[in-house]
Amino acid sequence: MDMSKRMGSKIKSILTADQFSKTELDNLLNMSEKIEAELETRKSIPLLKDHILAALFFEPSTRTRLSFESAMHRLGGKVITAVGMQFSSLAKGETLYDTLKVMESYADVVAIRHPVVGASSIAAQSISVPVINAGDGAGEHPTQGILDLYTIHKRKNLSASKNINIGFIGDIKYGRTIHSLVKLLWHYNVNFTFISPPELALPTEYEALLQEKNASYSITDNIEEIYNCDVAYITRIQEERFPDRSEYEKFRDSFVINKELILKCKEDIILMHPLPRLNEISTDVDGMPQAIYFEQAQNGLYTRMALLSDILGCPMV
Ligand code: NCD
Repeated sequence: MDMSKRMGSKIKSILTADQFSKTELDNLLNMSEKIEAELETRKSIPLLKDHILAALFFEPSTRTRLSFESAMHRLGGKVITAVGMQFSSLAKGETLYDTLKVMESYADVVAIRHPVVGASSIAAQSISVPVINAGDGAGEHPTQGILDLYTIHKRKNLSASKNINIGFIGDIKYGRTIHSLVKLLWHYNVNFTFISPPELALPTEYEALLQEKNASYSITDNIEEIYNCDVAYITRIQEERFPDRSEYEKFRDSFVINKELILKCKEDIILMHPLPRLNEISTDVDGMPQAIYFEQAQNGLYTRMALLSDILGCPMV
């Protein structure tokens, strides 16, 4: 049964970050705040008793999958999981459509991670239960975007702050978490600074969207631009997206954020990273108050609980 229709929730599937209105985002931030506060005194908030999440992960994942699972458990729901193309019937030649079609009867909501851009949209057209895009190739990762937005909001109060300067550093071309976060942040009063080697710069379609939104942004390959940032969002060079490995080798150590560099930044800069980190942030930064990437990952629990309960029509009020 499609609970989201029955209970009249506005959000159905979560496929791209630009599906959210500012009101919906503010509402999700509020719900996440309430959930976080509630979990300080209790282990679970049983809004989704008897609901089942199917987690279909056809690409590697640790945090995203486990935080979806933890979120579902803490909402009193249950989880069924398929991990890795090689272990599923897709390896025997089954189409994604056939795999998904069966999920309709097994689960109330499906979270899918897949290497092909747009796979989750195709999934959503194929089945009647809500689908959540948990990362589609170099496309988007909207639920990571929401947890990143929540993290920035908590630390910098997005609704009150005047013109926060957000720096994106690393692989902006292939980094799907950046693509989603940009589409969420343009609802707020922020300035975007994109710092990357020119070959890994923001894709032109995103630049066109920023222009359409009248957003304030700049594109540079100069890491010293980080000195003007209030938030630095650093990403791994996305090795698996490069058509040619030697290209990846050229860029793998483009930027290394270390303590020395951070000491030259604004004192209250926050350093974010969707993780996993390779060597783009050196571990001497981890103990600094500016480094909040582990707190950021923790926020994924609260925001995914908010999203899951909302799309299944039982939101936290
Ligand atoms: C990111 C992803 O999968 O896109 N990880 C995550 O979901 N936390 C970032 C990455 O893999 O570099």
